[in-house]
Amino acid sequence: MPDLSPDLSVELGRWEGRRLALASPLIIAAGCFGSDGFGAGVDLVALAGSGVGAVVIKSVTLRPRAGNPEPRRYPADWSAGSGDGSGGVSGADFVRLNSVGLANPGIERVLAEYAPAWAEWPFPVILSLAGTSPEEFGELAARCVGAPGIAGLELNLSCPNVGGAGGSGSGVGPGTVLAASGQLAAQAVIDARLCYSGPLWVKLAPNVAQLEFVARGCLRSGADALVVSNTMPALCIDVDTRRPVLGAGAGGLSGAALRPVALGLTQRVSNVVAAMPQGFNRVPVIGAGGVFTGRHAAEYFLAGASAVQVGTAFLEDAGALGRIQAELTAYLGEQGIEKVGELTGALRGAGVG
Ligand SMILES: Cc1cc2nc3c(=O)[nH]c(=O)nc-3n(C[C@H](O)[C@H](O)[C@H](O)COP(=O)(O)O)c2cc1C
Repeated sequence: MPDLSPDLSVELGRWEGRRLALASPLIIAAGCFGSDGFGAGVDLVALAGSGVGAVVIKSVTLRPRAGNPEPRRYPADWSAGSGDGSGGVSGADFVRLNSVGLANPGIERVLAEYAPAWAEWPFPVILSLAGTSPEEFGELAARCVGAPGIAGLELNLSCPNVGGAGGSGSGVGPGTVLAASGQLAAQAVIDARLCYSGPLWVKLAPNVAQLEFVARGCLRSGADALVVSNTMPALCIDVDTRRPVLGAGAGGLSGAALRPVALGLTQRVSNVVAAMPQGFNRVPVIGAGGVFTGRHAAEYFLAGASAVQVGTAFLEDAGALGRIQAELTAYLGEQGIEKVGELTGALRGAGVG
């Protein structure tokens, strides 16, 4: 009997030699792969063949970072599975706030101790890099040249949880500064592109005034995909203690509450891509923010994304991607769609174009 199930494979990237073929358009988002973002506590065998197209490894910096004070996540328990608000829970349950502050052992140790194993993993591994200047992004990318197990790089221009020198959680850290400036963002891509010839994705911030300008600069400088978006700077306060609920103060909002925001931004960035000159107008957009179900993923595809990243839902439930894939398959079947790529940008009506 012929296989009638829809084709979920996607090819991300426009230019020869910098394309990445994924078996599924569902990607685990940076910082969300296990308790440390490097896969701690994750059962790789169970994950194989269960909907994971690729994984983005937590943002790595030039030097080790201890990260922000605990608590780093609010609420404390993300395993409840109520993050998408289904089941009529109260609005408070939509909130997923974190401020990890880019805790990581530094690029040298990551490449020496973690990367060799990635080549054996059952899906491609993208390494997220976080620099404080375009030059630093160049230096980080240069270190990754020829490193084993790295299928591509994602430049995190947009972490809200790092302050000036040590990580204050002020929401105006150097990452956000880069993401807010078309010129600096473009220069960061150029500096990384100069030394790294593989797939180079760029992750944008949700809270910048001139997102279109920033996106255009990244595209012109050689980005192979734009990821929309990082978490949104946000604050929750415990009124009993009169303190912020997170040790660092403010944090980044992820999960269901972020979805309509990131979806709107995905559409805006997709429109920027579509208006670019030939070649550049086919660079893929990857949506990220509050994907908990197959229908959420479909929303992002309709808004113009070619793939989606899943963070909070995976942290809540390690089986989330398998379920999302099954739901997406069912949706595509209902819609009579044979290949998931046909859904990209297929939104009808108001706001199109
Ligand atoms: C605990 C946690 C840690 C994160 N760490 C990173 C990181 O290191 N680098 C990065 O680019 N994004 C990081 N993010 C943002 C996610 O990759 C993603 O963009 C965001 O959470 C929105 O997707 P979601 O709603 O599916 O979680 C982190 C998110 C969470 C929840």
